[in-house]
Amino acid sequence: MKILLCGGAGFIGSHFATIRLLQHNDSIVVLDKLTYAGRRQNLAHLEGHPSFAFVHGAIESPKDVQRALSAPARAGEPPFDAIVNFAAETHVDRSIAAAHDFIQTNLLGTNVLLEAAIQHRLRYVQVSTDEVYGSIEEGTFTELSPLAPSSPYAASKAGADLLVLSCCHTHGLHGSICRGSNNYGPRQYPEKLIPLIILNALHNDPLPVYGDGRQVRNWIHVTDFASAVGIVLEEGAPGEVYNAGGPDECANIDVVERIVALTSASPDSIEHIADRPGHDRRYSLSSEKVRALGWRPRVRFNQGLADTVAWYRDNVSWWEPIRSGEYRAYYERQYDKPLRSGPAHSTQ
Ligand code: NAD
Ligand code: DAU
Repeated sequence: MKILLCGGAGFIGSHFATIRLLQHNDSIVVLDKLTYAGRRQNLAHLEGHPSFAFVHGAIESPKDVQRALSAPARAGEPPFDAIVNFAAETHVDRSIAAAHDFIQTNLLGTNVLLEAAIQHRLRYVQVSTDEVYGSIEEGTFTELSPLAPSSPYAASKAGADLLVLSCCHTHGLHGSICRGSNNYGPRQYPEKLIPLIILNALHNDPLPVYGDGRQVRNWIHVTDFASAVGIVLEEGAPGEVYNAGGPDECANIDVVERIVALTSASPDSIEHIADRPGHDRRYSLSSEKVRALGWRPRVRFNQGLADTVAWYRDNVSWWEPIRSGEYRAYYERQYDKPLRSGPAHSTQ
């Protein structure tokens, strides 16, 4: 397949690019705006591959999208088969502080991609989230559960999902949606809970836990979610939604305590701080529908978390420029205190 991969320089998109290029022999053109969360370095291991190309541009720009669609990964290649859209503003806390960029990228950008997919008759996969369903105290969400997004981020993702479904219904688009639970693993920007806690633990910084920390998330390793999106691309039916949840649920405070145990951080560094406004208490997805297409998650949380801690410990050159750049100012705004810049201490 030849795929226009939007948002491929981010966390999950870069794993999807790796799996599809190296394991499925797909041809990949990444279109990415390189926001604070997107980095060419995430794709460095693919640069120079004859079936890989990178285009710097924004999904909300029809000109950029058309430019990407005329960029062959290899000279003389056939036209594209599919657009897979990972590109988004993704951090809930940033959407609470200011929602404009979320509407621009997640809604208007998705609309531009949908118009291109319809015009060029391309297969379309929208990467979405369990957050569109809102919070569930007991049981699990299926694809038929009503949408009840809590944050501006979740609302922008739910709106985009509805746009995709409307294009399938009205324009005959072969579009499918894959909704994932909380991803973790290498190359996740440290604004998100797991890498934030790992890096703070390695720097003797306080470990911020919102509210009582009893909120539950359904953790999925990034390679498992990337392969779920791949199966939806290959096997998903038009106009259908597929949930892909991880095999393990865990309360935030337990996640933080596990990271404390995996590093030499002090348990006293855990700090309960003010709760996130509108904080969803629990997410849980039923993944039966995507399992029926042959998908299985392979990584259990215990092992995946230990491997993730080891990856951040071993890849200082990946996170060092982030921790000394835009992220420092963001952290100070969000947590009302500066990050310490002291040396990372050793781990067990
Ligand atoms: P990320 O923030 O790490 O990466 C997002 C990427 O999109 C970056 O490379 C960024 O530069 C790019 N981008 C942002 N705005 C753009 C624009 N206007 N035009 C082109 N590129 C743009 O995100 P992620 O965690 O890898 O998430 C990827 C997708 O998966 C998102 O759609 C997100 O909603 C969804 N998702 C994420 C999770 C999770 O736990 N991280 C779970 C379920 C679904
Ligand atoms: O569920 C899928 C979603 O998972 C994706 O759609 C989002 O793009 C992704 O960011 C993630 O959203 P969350 O809000 O669940 O992830 P985050 O890592 O921000 O927070 C996870 C939990 O940890 C959540 O309950 C809030 C809590 N938390 C987070 C941070 C950053 C803390 O307690 N302290 C923190 O400092």
